[in-house]
Amino acid sequence: MIISLIVAASENNAIGKDNKLLWYLPNDMKFFKNTTWAMPVIMGRKTFESLAGEPLPGRYNIVVTRNHIDLSGRSNAELAFSPEDALLKAKEKDCKEVFIAGGQQIYNAYLPVATKIYITRVHAVLEGDAFFPAIDEKEWKKVYELDFPADEKHAYAYSFQTWVRI
Ligand SMILES: NC(=O)c1ccc[n+]([C@@H]2O[C@H](COP(=O)([O-])OP(=O)(O)OC[C@H]3O[C@@H](n4cnc5c(N)ncnc54)[C@H](OP(=O)(O)O)[C@@H]3O)[C@@H](O)[C@H]2O)c1
Repeated sequence: MIISLIVAASENNAIGKDNKLLWYLPNDMKFFKNTTWAMPVIMGRKTFESLAGEPLPGRYNIVVTRNHIDLSGRSNAELAFSPEDALLKAKEKDCKEVFIAGGQQIYNAYLPVATKIYITRVHAVLEGDAFFPAIDEKEWKKVYELDFPADEKHAYAYSFQTWVRI
């Protein structure tokens, strides 16, 4: 199973502030949805709460926490009590890829075992309180990039990039 991180980060690697995203970029939301659709996604408890406590539809949501969260009635979500436990639960789904969907703590936990990163690089330097780890170009190679300018729906220019572990 490929372990992929999927993230949108500013030039200075900011990903969020006050448990919210720093932008509204509809094309990035579409990219996230298309890429992760029907696949297992692993996220931290705080990121899950930032989704108003509702699992992402059309995907199997695995929420990592050291506590108990009531997920009753949500057939497409379950808890995991460590990053390793979450990976085992994703493997049970027999999918070719699992997506690590943040936030900061969870990206840090999985970066050492991930082999792919889908990053939407948002071309701005922004203040945040949650950050993506720096991508070490000695360990990772960029294999894909597609650039988009800012427009009336997107306040910042952005690039979809894919990196693979060397
Ligand atoms: N730009 C993006 O692409 C993107 C994507 C996702 C999130 N974000 C942003 O990232 C920020 C949230 O990041 P965050 O780092 O504060 O929170 P987070 O990573 O979403 O969640 C942290 C929580 O995960 C659980 N956790 C972490 N490590 C664990 C471990 N080893 N074992 C068990 N549970 C563990 C803990 O939950 P408990 O406290 O319940 O034990 C911890 O409080 C928000 O601003 C959000 O908007 C941005």
